Amino acid sequence: VLTAEERKAIQSSWAKLAPEHDDLGGEALTRLFQVYTQSKIYFPHFDLCPGSNDIHRHGQKVVKAIDSAIKNMDNIRGCLSDLSDLHAYNLRVDPVNFKFLARCIHVTLASSLRGDYNALVYLAWDKLLCVIAEVLTEKYR
Ligand code: HEM
Repeated sequence: VLTAEERKAIQSSWAKLAPEHDDLGGEALTRLFQVYTQSKIYFPHFDLCPGSNDIHRHGQKVVKAIDSAIKNMDNIRGCLSDLSDLHAYNLRVDPVNFKFLARCIHVTLASSLRGDYNALVYLAWDKLLCVIAEVLTEKYR
């Protein structure tokens, strides 16, 4: 569970990144497909060249979901419920990919926030990304 201090760390670092929200998701996904190439199998219908329009557009959707989780930190499960159904029942993404994507999001945040991405901010984001991954994978059976 996220402490008040961790919530504040996420909210203020996310606000600081507002001008970059449109691009952050695409950057994280580009890293995902380059570093963890096995994750590409879920996107056979996408142009997966680094920075492609498909990646950029999909990145914006992912960022929007993260943004809504941040705005509803007391009810992340509720606000991502439809996405949880989608990832578990339709997409059947191997859960390990959520760890890979989380790492790529960390690297993306760190390369934008630089010195502001300190241990507290890192830990807070790690908790948030774990909760999101847990919610998106908990309906698997
Ligand atoms: C679709 C969010 C992790 C594979 C989506 C959509 C969102 C989303 C918002 C669009 C849903 C819609 O169009 O209604 C997230 C979030 C994640 C996450 C917040 C974790 C932080 C992953 C991972 C994979 C994945 C790790 C696999 C590597 C997909 C695929 C689609 C999708 C294949 C459908 C793409 C399409 O055909 O347009 N996800 N996702 N997701 N996601 Fe995820």
